[in-house]
Order: sequence, then C-alpha cells, then structure tokens
Amino acid sequence: MAVWTPESWRAKPILQQPLYNNADQVAAVEATLARRPPLVFAGEVRALRRQFAEVTAGRAFLLQGGDCAESFAEFHADNIRDTFKVLLQMAVVLTFAGSCPVVKVGRMAGQFAKPRSADMEQIDGTELPSYRGDIVNDIGFTAEARLPDPERLLHAYNQAAATQNLLRAFAQGGFADLNQVHRWNLDFVEASPAGEKYQDLAAQIDQALAFMEACGISGGNTPQIHETSLYTSHEALLLNYEQALTRKDSLTGNWYDCSAHMLWIGDRTRQLDGAHVEFLRGVHNPIGVKVGPSMNPDELIRLIDILDPDNSGDRLNLIARMGADQVVEKLAPLVRRVRDEGRQLLWSCDPMHGNTIKASSGYKTRSVDSILKEMKGFFEVHNGEGTRAGGVHFEMTGQNVTECIGGSFQVTEEKLGDRYHTHCDPRLNADQALELAFLIADTLKAARQR
Ligand code: PEP
Ligand code: CO
Repeated sequence: MAVWTPESWRAKPILQQPLYNNADQVAAVEATLARRPPLVFAGEVRALRRQFAEVTAGRAFLLQGGDCAESFAEFHADNIRDTFKVLLQMAVVLTFAGSCPVVKVGRMAGQFAKPRSADMEQIDGTELPSYRGDIVNDIGFTAEARLPDPERLLHAYNQAAATQNLLRAFAQGGFADLNQVHRWNLDFVEASPAGEKYQDLAAQIDQALAFMEACGISGGNTPQIHETSLYTSHEALLLNYEQALTRKDSLTGNWYDCSAHMLWIGDRTRQLDGAHVEFLRGVHNPIGVKVGPSMNPDELIRLIDILDPDNSGDRLNLIARMGADQVVEKLAPLVRRVRDEGRQLLWSCDPMHGNTIKASSGYKTRSVDSILKEMKGFFEVHNGEGTRAGGVHFEMTGQNVTECIGGSFQVTEEKLGDRYHTHCDPRLNADQALELAFLIADTLKAARQR
C-alpha cells in the first residue's frame, strides 16, 4: 500500500464535500486550525483504545450517543449537560444489566458535518444546495444561507473546544456521581407511565448501592463512584478539518486525529479507494465504520484489511445500521464472515439510520418500536452466530423534543410539530432514550450470561 501522510487523502476521489468558491480563504482557515491546540490528547485516545479492547473481548459494553448534528443555535451549557446526563443514566442501567463496565462515547464536541442523499434541495419549485451541517452552511432556505462559508470551520472548532471543556468538568467534578445518577433514574421511573415495568431493576440498583455504601464504598472515598470518563466522537467527513487537527504524538511518533477521541466513516463515504478510508487508515484513533444494507462480505473484509491490517482488537468498530426489517437477513452473513476470518473487532448497533420514515405531516421521524426491533434483531444475530453484541449507537438529546414517535410518554405523529428542533435526523428525547436502555436491559443480561 502507498505511503500514508496526513494529506495523502487529497489524491483520492472524495464524496460529500462542500463546493467552496474561495480556495484561498479555505487554505487560510486550514492554516489557522493547524495552529490551534488539539481538542483531545493522544494519551486519552490510547485509553479509549484500551476500552475498545475490553469491549471486543466481551468484558465491557459500548454506549455511543448524541446529536445527529450539533448546531450553533442549540449551543448551550444546559443542552450539553442534559445530553451527558441521559448518557450517564443509560449507562447505569446497562452497567447493572450487563454486570460490566459501559464505555461512554458522545456524538458531541465536533459532530457538525452531515452527508446528504441529495446535493440539492427543492421547496415549492425553488432549488438550492442542501444543508450540510453548521460547519459548512446555514439551514435557512435562501441562496445566501446555503453558500458554504469556510469561517464556519473555525466557529465549529471553537464550539467543540468549549463543549469538550465542559464535558471534562462534568465528568470529573461530581456531576456524574453514581448515587446522583441513580436518583435521576428513580425520578424517571416514578414519572414514567410505564414505570412499573422498570421498578424491579431500579430497586435492585438501589440495593446494590446501599450495600456498597454499607461496606464503606462511597463517592467520598472511591473515584469510580464519583467520577467518570466521557469520550467524544464524530463522523470524519470534512477531511480538511480533520487533517488540520491531526498531530504527531511526541511519545510514540504516531499520528492522531486530535479533533475527537474516536472518528467514524459514514455509510456514504466508505469506498475502498476513497479519500475517507485513506485518511482514517493512517491515524491511530479508534475508528468506526457505518455498515448499511449495501455492504457485502467480501467488501467488508477488504475494508477491514485496509483499516486494521494488524487485526489489533482495539481499533475497529463496525456500526451496523440495517433497518429493523432487514437486520437479521443482512447482518448475519457479515457477522459470520468476520467471525470465520478471525477478525477481532467491535460490532455495535445503530438502530436509527435504517429506520427513518416520513410522517404524513412531512416530518422525518423514527418509531421507538422499530428502533427496539432493530436492536433485538442485532442481539439475535450475534446470539445465533456465537459472536458479541458489543454496543449501541443512538441519536438522542437530553431535551424534551418530539422528533421520534412512541415511548410510554406517547409522542404521536400529530405531536411531532410541538418541539421538533433537530437540524438533521430525528433524535430520541431523554425519556425515550432512557426507556430504551431499560427495555434492552434484559436482552443484554441474557446475552452476557451466554
Ligand atoms: C449519522 O450517523 O448521522 C449518519 C449520517 O449515518 P450513516 O452514515 O449511517 O447514514
Ligand atoms: Co443522523
């Protein structure tokens, strides 16, 4: 294979990039970004790789979640706090159910750029370039708004830096204390119309915490109770942004993309000879790849060979997003082949992107039922093949939005318009996300006991 450099991707075919009309300005912004401090550090990235190894070996579970697209407009400390809070609440439920550590990775602090199915968008006979995320252009439907503006790369970097800073403070400063997170879960169970279903599990966690406290293990003397780690991730779509934040680690001499701990390649940009695969093969971060229904087993093995030639077990996360109705049929042959070829990697389930539908009102939505169905299908496939269901990947927010249908708080199709705020795909709200954690608790427990 040819030599990799942080810019070797520039010689490859590339999809899903904005068409800027001011190349000099783009180059100036890239140079500025390259002088900015890294957002994460190589040592932290290596810590996440060790966590990946634990998940791949079946000793931990991966929970990845956050916005479909972070936006400049929704940037607020409360929003960051609330999404982090739901991730923590879900993690406690999953940790208890699976009796194993849960590795938490946010789609946060950099998840701005969006791949689109169509380059152009049409409304009432007017055609304009599609919105590609706040890091590229504005969501407003005017020609000016849709013009890609390179200054937005700097704006996104600044917002990611501030978000990362707050997340570090929340993770270490007592906000994530296990007892507090559990109290939030009790509040949820009490308020939920389906709370009875979850009461047993919540009561068991209650007892476990009381027992630990009685044994002298508390937040006051045990950092594992009082603090946590939240890693960051986003789709590595704008490779000029990623390149500008890629640094050589002085300790190991290896290259790391320091825009986030983990990066993933989207389902639309995973071409074997394309720029995205070329860029990500050379950085030493843990890498995700979205695997949709068009993937075939031969192509998948070739992709794995490129991205993880050492079969290292702490590098690669295949994120299956097949759709509830085809997950069993489409995923099984891939899982089988990866298993038969002896590849050590982490399989997780994105039950969101294969289940997007258009409501009659025109809103893009997803139903909690199909999200749950895809997750169950994912576990079923791994159970059948004797492989590990390593994690889940959600689009969710801590805000009380009405973007996905269902859940016991009854978001119906008619209510979608009440609080539909997403800049891209429909997200689970806090109640729906937490409910799903409770609903897969049994499945996870059964899978862990096998
Ligand atoms: C996403 O995760 O927001 C996304 C666009 O996913 P996919 O590449 O799987 O469609
Ligand atoms: Co999305």
